[in-house]
Amino acid sequence: MLVLGIESSCDETGAAIVQDGRYLLSNIVASQIEVHNRYGGVVPEVASRQQLTAIIPVLEAALEQAHCGWDDVDAIAATYGPGLAGSLLVGLTVGKSLALARTKPFVGVNHLEAHIYANWLRQGEQPQAGVGAINEGDPEFPLICLVVSGAHSELVLVREHGHYELLGQTRDDAAGEAFDKVARILGLGYPGGPAIQQAAQRVEEELRQQKKSLKQARKAYLLPRAWLRGTYDFSFSGLKTAMLHLAEGATGVAPELRSTGQAKQGSRYARMGEQAAQAGAPDVALLASSFQEAIVDVLAVKTRQAAQEYNVKQVVLAGGVAANASLRERLQRELTPLHVRLSYPPIEFCTDNAAMIASAAFFHLSRGERHGLDLDVQPGLSL
Ligand code: KG4
Ligand code: ZN
Repeated sequence: MLVLGIESSCDETGAAIVQDGRYLLSNIVASQIEVHNRYGGVVPEVASRQQLTAIIPVLEAALEQAHCGWDDVDAIAATYGPGLAGSLLVGLTVGKSLALARTKPFVGVNHLEAHIYANWLRQGEQPQAGVGAINEGDPEFPLICLVVSGAHSELVLVREHGHYELLGQTRDDAAGEAFDKVARILGLGYPGGPAIQQAAQRVEEELRQQKKSLKQARKAYLLPRAWLRGTYDFSFSGLKTAMLHLAEGATGVAPELRSTGQAKQGSRYARMGEQAAQAGAPDVALLASSFQEAIVDVLAVKTRQAAQEYNVKQVVLAGGVAANASLRERLQRELTPLHVRLSYPPIEFCTDNAAMIASAAFFHLSRGERHGLDLDVQPGLSL
């Protein structure tokens, strides 16, 4: 079965054709990163207008790349939530219109569920990077999925296709949101996750070459971790605030933020920043590395605990933050002794794409499920 998937929930416009929920015939993504980089984040009004101009060329490119005509496509799927209403409307309306015009079955897809299904996608060649098994065959149920994106941080128990049990979620900022905000504080640009990862990798490599201890170097910035013991919930706002104060104290790191009055001069973290500044120039890359370690620590330990409690044989990662090399490595170290398999999608399928929409749709269609053309967008949809 060939499914045409459409994704437009935020600032990426995607169209893809996927066979049987797994095999990629085409995958086109138009990104608005350059536009939003100017503002340091996604501007909803701008995002929906960009979706409008991108959607038709992206669709045409997906059909062309797959060498497909309309007769070859068996069903059409589009994201209907969660996301930005204006952006979602573009993909959903185009998807439903195509289904009507071409008399094809239509399925609306939950964007979060689709991130999980990115783990079912396979490519011809094995993607390089990282450790652990990458999509060698279908994941095995029951499994624990850590969904970490720009808007979500959720630990989910998946007992079988379509059955999701939410074990915990963020009480404030999502993991990706924390990466983005902290990158802004450090002046590293948008999107923050890849920028922080790069800066961290750079300083870690430098320290290795100088034969210096990373652990010792990170002691200049001891950052808080919210464990919220007894729950699988997350909280990253304390860490973000600590980073803001640190940057405040360490003169020259975030000059633009000092004028916003958000600073709490004299806080513990501001003093830590001042001390680091006095000892030498404040090191943005080392701050990035310490921040990344703090966030990865909490995500990896809680995911390992959930895998143990629910006695699963497999953990999968999903969402943009699943592209993070440090998270992948750390989780692999947590899970290997337990003989729990870790898998995660190749990087381009961690961040928003339409192939994962087509994959999730295939499993709904296989169960005989589809939506009417009166389906509306649901910006606040959950799993
Ligand atoms: O899943 P996604 O593309 O969009 C949402 O549905 O939110 O996730 C985007 C998020 C951004 O916050 C971005 O900074 C983060 O994923 N991200 C990363 C990395 N690549 C993307 N975070 C950490 N490390 C990365 N390598
Ligand atoms: Zn997403």
